[in-house]
Amino acid sequence: MKMKLRIKLPFLFLLMFVLLVVAAGLFLRIFILGNEFVNVDRLREKYAAENRQIADNVSRRYPDMQKIATYLKQVSQERHIGIKLFNDDLSHTLLVFPNPNGSRSSFGNWIPVRAAKHRLLFQLEVNRVGKLYLTLLSPAFIKGLYFLLFIFCMVFFTLTLHFHIKITKPLQLLSTRLKNVKIGNSSVSLYSKRKDEIGELYQYFNQMEQRLYQAHQEQINMIAAMAHDLKTPLTSINGFVELLALQKNLSEKEKQEYYDLIAKKSRHMVELINSFSAFTRDELELETHPRERVEVKKLFERIAAEYETELSSLNFRLHWNHSFKGNQYLCINEHMIRRVFGNLFSNAVRYGEKPDLQVYLSGFIQGNSVYFQVEDNGQGVPDQDLASLFMKFFTVDKSRQTKKGGTGLGLSSCKSIVEHHGGQIEAFHSEYGGLAIRFSIPLAR
Ligand SMILES: Nc1ncnc2c1ncn2[C@@H]1O[C@H](COP(=O)(O)OP(=O)(O)OP(=O)(O)O)[C@@H](O)[C@H]1O
Ligand SMILES: [Mg+2]
Repeated sequence: MKMKLRIKLPFLFLLMFVLLVVAAGLFLRIFILGNEFVNVDRLREKYAAENRQIADNVSRRYPDMQKIATYLKQVSQERHIGIKLFNDDLSHTLLVFPNPNGSRSSFGNWIPVRAAKHRLLFQLEVNRVGKLYLTLLSPAFIKGLYFLLFIFCMVFFTLTLHFHIKITKPLQLLSTRLKNVKIGNSSVSLYSKRKDEIGELYQYFNQMEQRLYQAHQEQINMIAAMAHDLKTPLTSINGFVELLALQKNLSEKEKQEYYDLIAKKSRHMVELINSFSAFTRDELELETHPRERVEVKKLFERIAAEYETELSSLNFRLHWNHSFKGNQYLCINEHMIRRVFGNLFSNAVRYGEKPDLQVYLSGFIQGNSVYFQVEDNGQGVPDQDLASLFMKFFTVDKSRQTKKGGTGLGLSSCKSIVEHHGGQIEAFHSEYGGLAIRFSIPLAR
């Protein structure tokens, strides 16, 4: 049955309430009919004795009907009972004194009134109001029962209200917000002082909205940066093409120069597009590529050996050292981690701008994480740019960049890979004079 929580909860509480009242009623009845059974018998005997006494007194006043009537009227009023007097064969009603408490008598007794020698004079009917077992309950007890019922009602309403305010309403609010979530709009955060699951839910919802907003902003920024990077060479190409089309008297040499420039700018555009697609491919690969257990020492030494050869072929030197032992492992996607090293080494070579460039690779363990550090003795990065290095499309010097050809996506991609592995990455000034990049990856258990 599909039922909204705001209806289901009160309904469940109502059901609980009814069941509780029925159970209490049943218990009370069983309790009284069972445990008080002895008392009922005792009461019955007491009433029987009373009835016999009334019959004896009637017999004593016989045959004075006036005296009998006065006596029975007095007894009826004093004891709050209904009395009827019939003749011996019940064919006539002689006297009737209704119960002063009302006419609904629930239990009655017939008592024969006999004279001496057991001659039957009259038949007497005595009626007492109410159920026999109820007469056993004191008025305070009955009041207590009503009070209990009232408390039940209050608890029921309080619980329903509490659940409505504390659960149904926040859930309703969350579902309305989820229904109206807008990616590009960071609306007012949901606020709650609560520290329980609902408070956490609000907090996670706010974080989700924030992430959506940031992702949207990043998307816009990325498109803007891509458009900007592509526009520059495209504007040049356009200019040269127009020049070639309009200036009919250009020499062959000049024409060739313009063709070469167009080819150069086109190559730059292809490079840009290649790095954009490599970046998106990396991001997608991060989600899909499996991880494997890799021994840190072996990984480090393999990478160091590979880049030592590569750098020496460019006449640069790589110095490396580590403090890893044989039984330390990482759970990584090695292919992606290698991309991080690849970008860090290519950056050192590309931006170091020094003929005797030295690159330093070190590795160590601190706490539960493995740290890798790549440094160089090159130009370095100004203080104010250190924090921005990991932003997409960030490059330190735009004019220098045109010559070097980077798009500013490498370090952003490194950050994304490292964070995907549960680690962190940071940039600082190296003691060797250039830039130092350090990143961590948690050790495998
Ligand atoms: N070792 C370094 N020394 C000096 N500057 C550096 C160094 N590494 C990075 N940078 C600066 O940081 C910027 C960002 O580097 P990043 O690797 O993100 O992009 P890129 O190298 O320009 O492009 P891509 O890596 O996408 O080809 C570079 O443009 C450069 O200005
Ligand atoms: Mg780079």
